[in-house]
Amino acid sequence: MSSVPAPAPPQPANHVNTNQAHMNPLPPSVFTLPQTAQLEALYTIIRDKNTSRGDFLFYSDRIIRLLVEEGLNHLPVVKKTIETPTGSTYEGVGFQGKICGVSILRAGEAMEAGLREVCRSVRIGKILIQRDEETAQPKLFYSKFPPDIKNRYVLLLDPMLATGGSAIKAVEVLMEQGVPEERIIFINLIASPEGLTTFTSKYPLLKVITGWIDEGLNEKAFIIPGLGDFGERRYCV
Ligand code: URA
Repeated sequence: MSSVPAPAPPQPANHVNTNQAHMNPLPPSVFTLPQTAQLEALYTIIRDKNTSRGDFLFYSDRIIRLLVEEGLNHLPVVKKTIETPTGSTYEGVGFQGKICGVSILRAGEAMEAGLREVCRSVRIGKILIQRDEETAQPKLFYSKFPPDIKNRYVLLLDPMLATGGSAIKAVEVLMEQGVPEERIIFINLIASPEGLTTFTSKYPLLKVITGWIDEGLNEKAFIIPGLGDFGERRYCV
């Protein structure tokens, strides 16, 4: 009688992934989403080269929403007392300070809708950074910000943190606008250990919220295993 191998038992729903192994210990300013089987399943869909554009949009949006919610957890609150419809007093908290989003074009633009879903009528700025052909350094090509950005907490949006060059340039531009480093929260889908190390060493006071830390970069500075070119998968049919 030939023996058929038993199917692998299903993972428990709270299965915790070990992807942090790619960066252990984490810099103190880096926060990841809880590495559950649910989250890993979402990443498995968006990483799959056979995933349709529609599914890529849907499932990357789900992760972006989780990331934005986690980013908001890092904003300060102040005590706030309110009265409920039952006539009781409730001692809670309220958000302190104003926020805005800033997307690093073009991929970061895909994260704007997720921020708007959670923060109604949030102001959003944009930064376009590209490689300077002469110097090979990241160069600012365009920016537009809310006029009072220096008084706001900034959620800086970029889905892929590869070498860290664009993120570093974007923070430099924000700081030139008067935004203190500690008021910037960088929100990201997938980071490379190299990019995280470079970015957080340069700016240790800002917070990084990332969903997943991958193995590393290939010779073309793509994140491995990654998901390919985020902008292409999101915008090109
Ligand atoms: N940008 C992408 O879209 N993908 C990568 O892997 C790295 C940067």
